[in-house]
Amino acid sequence: MKHVFGGIWTRKKLAVLEAYLKFYASALKNQPFTLHYADAFSGAGSHVPTDEEGQAVLVAQEDFKGSALTALDVELGFHRYHFNDLNPEHVRELMRIRDEYPNKKILVYQLDANQFVPKFCASLGRHDRAVLLLDPYSTQLDWSTLRHVAESGKVDLWLLFPISVILRMTPKNDSKE
Ligand SMILES: C[S@@+](CC[C@H](N)C(=O)[O-])C[C@H]1O[C@@H](n2cnc3c(N)ncnc32)[C@H](O)[C@@H]1O
Repeated sequence: MKHVFGGIWTRKKLAVLEAYLKFYASALKNQPFTLHYADAFSGAGSHVPTDEEGQAVLVAQEDFKGSALTALDVELGFHRYHFNDLNPEHVRELMRIRDEYPNKKILVYQLDANQFVPKFCASLGRHDRAVLLLDPYSTQLDWSTLRHVAESGKVDLWLLFPISVILRMTPKNDSKE
């Protein structure tokens, strides 16, 4: 199943993520750490972008790489990849990708991100370091989930959120409603 979402802004976002992951993997390559990349809202690995009206645009023969494939293709790379998504069709795609990369250690989960993140953070030991991407569509992430990330002391967090949703929920005229 095609994951239809995002647009030009998604490509920009993933280009910045890719640059960061390259620097991260390179900076820590000689350190005695096991490096993890975790993606709590992984999507399907790749996607078909949309236009301003949310319609799929077919500008290329190939789908665009999503965050999961972007992370997998980073040179030097990570020792382990943790891909989580609640949508079973996205999880099926992630499992297909796992099978396409037999030389990479890829773990696929189907959990609510608010369960996945604490579980992942608790699994990190003294010699583990991680980049965690939180890229929800909307308000699926509980604020309390972030406490687990902070308390681990081992995670570089990328938290993306749609500003339009936050603005819509922001009280106006001093109202608390
Ligand atoms: C914005 S998309 C992620 C895009 C992905 N980072 C990429 O670049 O391709 C959000 C994803 O979160 C998943 N999702 C929605 N609610 C979720 C939840 N509570 N826990 C985990 N995944 C969820 C959706 O199925 C969707 O695949």
